[in-house]
Amino acid sequence: MATPHNEAKKGDFAKTVLMPGDPLRAKFVAENFLEDVKCVNTVRNCLGFTGTYKGVPVSVMASGMGMPSIGIYSYELFAFYDVENIIRIGSAGSYTDKLNVLDVVIAESAFSNSTFAKYTNGVEETTLYPSKKINDVAIAKAKELGIDAKLAKVHSSDQFYTAPEMGGWKAVKERCGCDCVEMESFALFNNANMLGKNATCMLTISDSFVTSEEIPAEDRQKSFTEMMKLALETAIA
Ligand code: ADE
Repeated sequence: MATPHNEAKKGDFAKTVLMPGDPLRAKFVAENFLEDVKCVNTVRNCLGFTGTYKGVPVSVMASGMGMPSIGIYSYELFAFYDVENIIRIGSAGSYTDKLNVLDVVIAESAFSNSTFAKYTNGVEETTLYPSKKINDVAIAKAKELGIDAKLAKVHSSDQFYTAPEMGGWKAVKERCGCDCVEMESFALFNNANMLGKNATCMLTISDSFVTSEEIPAEDRQKSFTEMMKLALETAIA
């Protein structure tokens, strides 16, 4: 069984899927962290792979950027491929001096003024939550692995670029009361809630609005590796 966006057959995906935004990152994760890897989707280059981690089946598939994109892919994984858990592994910009570049974050909530949830299933709330079940595992695993993962309120934005008249990042931060910004978690959490599945989100801070720092290219892999380890250990727990 395929969908317009996914050529995988039923049974091709593991119960737990890690979801980076970038297809090449999905490929990197599959090639460097999983064993016995099979590529299960290439439609629109939104690459998906299934392999094993420490002997347990795990999949990794790209979400693309933004809520419409992760909305499609996560819906299909949950509804048509019997996936039970999706762990988003992404990057975020920091709105606070408490989150610095390279920090690893676990989402405690996702705020958005997107109409995604309203027009998907009539949800009017502007803050949605990850699955307590996976978040608790992730928090415990971070402790066990000595990873200083920080819980944060995530802003899922529809805008990467805004006009100066909108008041800049401080005005946005004031309006949403969040610690960092990305563009996908709210839609993912909504789909998980709607379909009775589990989702969480782990992020590496890639840029800071406070300090104007950006993650140096040579440090990207290291920070990413820490988040990956946390995501994989959470996936098989
Ligand atoms: N992901 C990483 N950095 C981001 C930013 N500054 N805005 C939105 N999404 C991001």
